[in-house]
Amino acid sequence: MQIIEILEDLFFIERGWLNANHFVHVSKKPILIDTAYKADTDVTVAQIAKLGVKPADVSLIINTHTHCDHIGANRIIHEQSGCDIALHTVGRYFIETKNDWATWWRYYNQEADFFECTRSLEDGDVLKIGLHEFQVIYTPGHASDGIVLYNREQKILISSDTLWENDMAVMTLRVEGSLALFSARKSLEKIASLDVRQVYPGHGKPFKDSETALSIAIKKIDQYMGDRERIGKDLIKKIIIYTLLMKNPINEQDFFPFLMTTVWFKETVDLYFNKEYKILYQQIMDSFIRNKIVKVENNRFITLIKP
Ligand SMILES: [Fe+2]
Repeated sequence: MQIIEILEDLFFIERGWLNANHFVHVSKKPILIDTAYKADTDVTVAQIAKLGVKPADVSLIINTHTHCDHIGANRIIHEQSGCDIALHTVGRYFIETKNDWATWWRYYNQEADFFECTRSLEDGDVLKIGLHEFQVIYTPGHASDGIVLYNREQKILISSDTLWENDMAVMTLRVEGSLALFSARKSLEKIASLDVRQVYPGHGKPFKDSETALSIAIKKIDQYMGDRERIGKDLIKKIIIYTLLMKNPINEQDFFPFLMTTVWFKETVDLYFNKEYKILYQQIMDSFIRNKIVKVENNRFITLIKP
């Protein structure tokens, strides 16, 4: 796993798709930005330990939004350290009202624990992370509580799931509403007005060319607006992979019946496709196997995507 010092004492840890990338500020009062997925908390703790940070010493966790792959170790770290946890006001409201629908956890059958949120963040706030100042920029769209963090001095953007290099994070209109596409576009336009030299996304490698990434994302939103089936295709593929990562490995014959027990799978097929559930499922799994994203071994599906 790649660990990079992005600013003095502030480290970026690259994870995968089930676990979002996260950050550690090393000091006597360590600060974390995002804490990956709950089931992989031991990996998260081991990565942080490489930088000499123990969960019990953490003073503050900042979350870029409340999705399960960003807040997974919050509860356990808070229990051990009594640390502050900061979220955008909207995310804080979701956590305090125990709204596991708005956080997507219930809709996508994800594992996550509620935790105590002690600090609210607003658009324009300035966060001190050691010697470094980061501006909080509210970027709803993918998540209605999404923020990115911008260091003006070094032109560094911690872009979470608002901006990826070559793709866009899932749009869940069933939870977020149709306005989410417009919000996502506005959020990207907000980022376009910043002078950015280096981007650290929520998933994937760091990258420099924010302009190209922004135009790819904006183009994708425009395609979504023109052809809604594209939203469904993107969602169903991403969430099937995500589900496989959560269950990795799963018996081949158990996977379709499992998907049929979830709310999201049938709803997504009903909303975006004019196809029978099993036929669509089979087509998607065949394409994953053909493209070496999934393999079948001893009658089990194994995904080759980095967790
Ligand atoms: Fe997310």
